[in-house]
Amino acid sequence: MTRIIDGKAAAERLRARIGGDVAAFVAQGGPVPGLTVVLVGRHPASLAYVGTKTRMAEAAGMNGRLLELPDTATTAELLAVIAELNAAADVHGILVQLPLPGHVDASRVLDAIDPAKDVDGFHPLNVGRLFSASGGIPDDLLLPCTPKGCMILLRETLGELRGKRAVVVGRSNIVGKPLAALLLAADCTVTIAHSRSTDLPALCRSAEILVAAVGRPEMIRGDWVDEGATVIDVGINRVAGPDGKSRLTGDVAFAEASARAGAITPVPGGVGPMTVACLLDNTLIAARAQHRRPT
Ligand SMILES: NC(=O)c1ccc[n+]([C@@H]2O[C@H](COP(=O)([O-])OP(=O)(O)OC[C@H]3O[C@@H](n4cnc5c(N)ncnc54)[C@H](OP(=O)(O)O)[C@@H]3O)[C@@H](O)[C@H]2O)c1
Repeated sequence: MTRIIDGKAAAERLRARIGGDVAAFVAQGGPVPGLTVVLVGRHPASLAYVGTKTRMAEAAGMNGRLLELPDTATTAELLAVIAELNAAADVHGILVQLPLPGHVDASRVLDAIDPAKDVDGFHPLNVGRLFSASGGIPDDLLLPCTPKGCMILLRETLGELRGKRAVVVGRSNIVGKPLAALLLAADCTVTIAHSRSTDLPALCRSAEILVAAVGRPEMIRGDWVDEGATVIDVGINRVAGPDGKSRLTGDVAFAEASARAGAITPVPGGVGPMTVACLLDNTLIAARAQHRRPT
């Protein structure tokens, strides 16, 4: 029978573990981990995301702070804010909510974040450490949250990943590429597919682990999935339902794919909840490291 991978329950377990670890860290004289989320403008989806992030940080015993800037904020103003947060001893994690307005130089802003406080794992130094890791990923490395969450779900589902054939569809810097690097570090044999790949259905069928991170509703059909494969659907797409109301769907045609997969994540309730839980995990990792070696 197909196992539906319950990302919501896995994220709740992870957040409960982090809450316990935060309490123990503070009891041993550590600072209360501080996460500051920087939001530029009032994009409705971003507002909802940042609200969840700061609320869940608070629920785990951390200081979750939202810093709101108007959508007229310039690159220079944002760089000044980042410099202040880099210097603040009670801020251990900085997250700049994307997307930034078009007039802002997003990579200059992201690159200005102290790598030790880069809880999104997007700083070139952390990306470089991930891609050059040999002999395992260091425990204190700040990994991008969504790929990190996918790896936790895969390990909980399959146990040992060594030697598995993994196909990742999507090569973004946020999901596809770092996830491929993590699968490689776990000794999988990894193929990265993208919009120029040929015969994608056959490529997907070759996978024991199939990850979809494309942003195209239900693109991966049931007959692209090998019998018994583990399917991780990262996609979050808002589409109109038959009743005209909007609903969320993934990049995988869930009903078809779940008839063949051994295990599959649903959307919603799969990868999504793990992303925020991993952000909290990164904040605690960053706080511990900064407590040991002040930045
Ligand atoms: N669950 C979460 O927490 C979470 C977090 C982040 C993102 N997401 C979701 O994950 C999805 C992907 O996000 P992203 O940021 O990685 O997206 P992205 O930056 O738009 O990248 C999409 C990737 O898919 C590839 N692609 C597009 N059309 C394709 C096709 N027809 N065949 C094969 N590959 C194709 C693109 O290839 P090229 O490189 O060739 O253009 C690109 O590499 C989105 O639905 C997003 O909302 C979810």
